Amino acid sequence: MSRVVVAVDGPAGTGKSSVSRGLARALNAHYLDTGAMYRIVTLSMLRADIDITDPASIAAVADVPLSVGYDPNVDRAYLGGEDVSDEIRGDEVTKAVSAVSAVPEVRARLVAMQRELASGSDNVVVEGRDIGTVVLPDADVKIFLTASAETRARRRNDQNVAAGLPDEYEAVLADVRRRDHLDSTRAVSPLRPAEDAVIVDTSDMTEAEVVAQLLELVEQRSGAVR
Ligand code: DC
Repeated sequence: MSRVVVAVDGPAGTGKSSVSRGLARALNAHYLDTGAMYRIVTLSMLRADIDITDPASIAAVADVPLSVGYDPNVDRAYLGGEDVSDEIRGDEVTKAVSAVSAVPEVRARLVAMQRELASGSDNVVVEGRDIGTVVLPDADVKIFLTASAETRARRRNDQNVAAGLPDEYEAVLADVRRRDHLDSTRAVSPLRPAEDAVIVDTSDMTEAEVVAQLLELVEQRSGAVR
């Protein structure tokens, strides 16, 4: 049985990361979180005081030494040798990451790394925004997760509250819309489903339901064995 390569794309707040990890576990697959890679590069820019409104300044230092976990059970991200797993999820990075990920030199470098990491002989689930369209156009199964902006904002706000952050639904909704707009209108690799992607709306589904549906899709489309 040949290996299966699954691309999972979609905006933030669709449950993409949890669902992709769950799918990778069920398939005994590697898991690659490409958003974490953009976040590490962004953190590096912020620390170096790079003007993130200037694409040329970003491009000049795009060659950031980074690594990410490759296992659905281990969520670790490194800048140089430093574990920055928590810092890359912070507000500062989240606000700046769209600008950094719009820079072609950053994308070219990370896409090359992602293709390299996804090659090999094992099953792999790769999660991001442009996996089915740009990074792995030959993926065996392409999934595009969606959910209404309101649902995604509610989920994120609930996560924030659970983490002890203020309850700010309206501000979170505005940020979800802002990021959607930036990610889907950028010139390089805008967020959109691949033509052959299966679109799954997770608004009214639990995480377990989504994983079960994706697993069924993978089995139908690839004949993968668990
Ligand atoms: O999935 P995330 O929220 O961690 O992603 C962080 C940012 O990185 C998001 O604003 C879009 C960008 N990104 C991207 O442009 N391409 C990818 N393949 C993954 C993420």
